[in-house]
Amino acid sequence: PSVTVFAPATVANVACGFDVIGLALESTGDEMDIRLSDTPGVRITSIEGAKLPLEASQNVAGVALQALLHEYGKPETGMEIAIRKNIHPGSGIGSSAASAAGAVAGGNMLLNNHFSPEALIRFAMEGERLACGTPHADNVAPAILGGFTLVRSYQPLDVIALHTPADLWVTVIHPQIEVRTADAREILKQQVMLKDAIRQWGNVGALVAGLYREDYDLIARSLEDVIVEPIRSILIPAFHDLKLRCREAGALGGGISGSGPSVFMLSKGEANARSVAAMMESIYAPLGVDYHIHVSRI
Ligand code: HSE
Repeated sequence: PSVTVFAPATVANVACGFDVIGLALESTGDEMDIRLSDTPGVRITSIEGAKLPLEASQNVAGVALQALLHEYGKPETGMEIAIRKNIHPGSGIGSSAASAAGAVAGGNMLLNNHFSPEALIRFAMEGERLACGTPHADNVAPAILGGFTLVRSYQPLDVIALHTPADLWVTVIHPQIEVRTADAREILKQQVMLKDAIRQWGNVGALVAGLYREDYDLIARSLEDVIVEPIRSILIPAFHDLKLRCREAGALGGGISGSGPSVFMLSKGEANARSVAAMMESIYAPLGVDYHIHVSRI
């Protein structure tokens, strides 16, 4: 038996929601074939589209699936994974999360859905631990649950699938420069000012309310990050210009996607999302930086 899964790209750190709010793109992602095998353990048989380790213990998909099989507790179980990467590693749209989430979602189907989605998130987080040293869940949670998700707590893990407004779209520009998540975490301050924390949690609450009410103006007002973005944005070419002009082009707002270098903008409706894409292109083309742009419903 084998299954083919679509593993979506994801935007983590949705503005004010650093490490807690993420979203999944409906139409950008990797594909993976996963099959049961008579040889115990996990093997990666092929990876197309990226240079990544085939050794299961060095590969985020391999490590995540190993975590699942370990808890399954039948050492004779074997699985093989073939990966087709459409998401570039280091792009800031959850490349490692897609690999990890796809592997455990597919593996679980082959085990007749033995595990809950919450358990799958936990296994996929082991892939994130390998990728950047921190088992954050704000990419793997939306990759597994779809739409917007909120990590209420890491200890114990408590992940909530949020409502996603029907007409909410995301535009993501991925400049072809590399920002390593581990480096982008290293530069963050470990203390925040109380006044900044107050502003941030006001925004997080309002963003969640805006999603449930499908109140696009409230969503727009809440898309602000006063804690992480001021530090990380220095790593991204033309960041402030991009944000300002994308709003003028119809975006509700946005910010750094994951740890960068990608930047995301949310819009109401496809037409606005495409105008934002054109605006991004007009800002990046003269810079001489190569880039990819993705436009997707959430
Ligand atoms: N929340 C994580 C970080 C996401 O910003 O470090 C990385 O994709």
